[in-house]
Amino acid sequence: MFEHLKNILSVKQQHKPKIVILTGAGISAESGIATFRDSNGLWENHSIEEVATPEGFAANPALVYEFYNQRRAQLLDGNVQPNKAHIALSKLEEYLGDNLTLITQNVDNLHERAGSENLLHMHGCLTSMKCTRSGMRKDVFESIDQNTLCDCCSPNQAMRPDIVWFGEMPYFMDEIEEKLSQADVFVSIGTSGNVYPAAGFVQIAKHFGALTVELNLEATHSNLFDEQFEGTATDLVPLFVDAVLSS
Ligand code: OAD
Repeated sequence: MFEHLKNILSVKQQHKPKIVILTGAGISAESGIATFRDSNGLWENHSIEEVATPEGFAANPALVYEFYNQRRAQLLDGNVQPNKAHIALSKLEEYLGDNLTLITQNVDNLHERAGSENLLHMHGCLTSMKCTRSGMRKDVFESIDQNTLCDCCSPNQAMRPDIVWFGEMPYFMDEIEEKLSQADVFVSIGTSGNVYPAAGFVQIAKHFGALTVELNLEATHSNLFDEQFEGTATDLVPLFVDAVLSS
């Protein structure tokens, strides 16, 4: 397994490879967090329009605050823990250092709890809130509502969940595009490839010459990946990391 990857990496053995990894909901599924598109397009029984758009927030802020309060509480209640896949990626960072760019679309904090430090939360994070006027971001571990105010504006403004909703610009796009253009290997883990711009990262990396690899329960866009491996993240990711460490 991963023989082609090992061959490519051993040719480049004069330096540690530059690897860009994009993770999606599939990497956290075995930690007990529901994925997005495996249940009729509903996110925990709500439509995307209701809970993940600026229009949904404007129409019913109380519902949206409560929705993310529940997701945050579930994440922090002690039953949800990083799994072997998150832990393997933090081990890979120990080896590769800055040559690893880890990008996640997930809004959970399981990568950082597994020990990953260089992490780009392109869709925001449940443990962060931001000012509705200035965009100032702040850690949050409790429930918030319309009465949770910022300390950056005068008069103080309402804070909102720090989640990139549909129609909003994901974070770190300039940095991500630069890293994709320099990557030796691009790996997509547990994402359906349905949401842009993340879904287009594989094409950018491929355009600049990276080997493109997918690890997923079910292979997705097969024409875009040089190698596809089907299985659970907790099985495949540790094997992938071992392959990199041994080449
Ligand atoms: P999806 O729910 O669309 O896709 C999850 C993917 O994970 C699917 O391809 C599954 O086959 C795969 N999968 C499920 N269980 C797995 C396992 N145990 N091991 C490996 N793979 C597994 O989730 P995303 O692609 O992450 O945006 O969704 C992208 C974005 O859409 C999310 O970030 C979210 C959502 O709207 C925001 O919240 C802004």
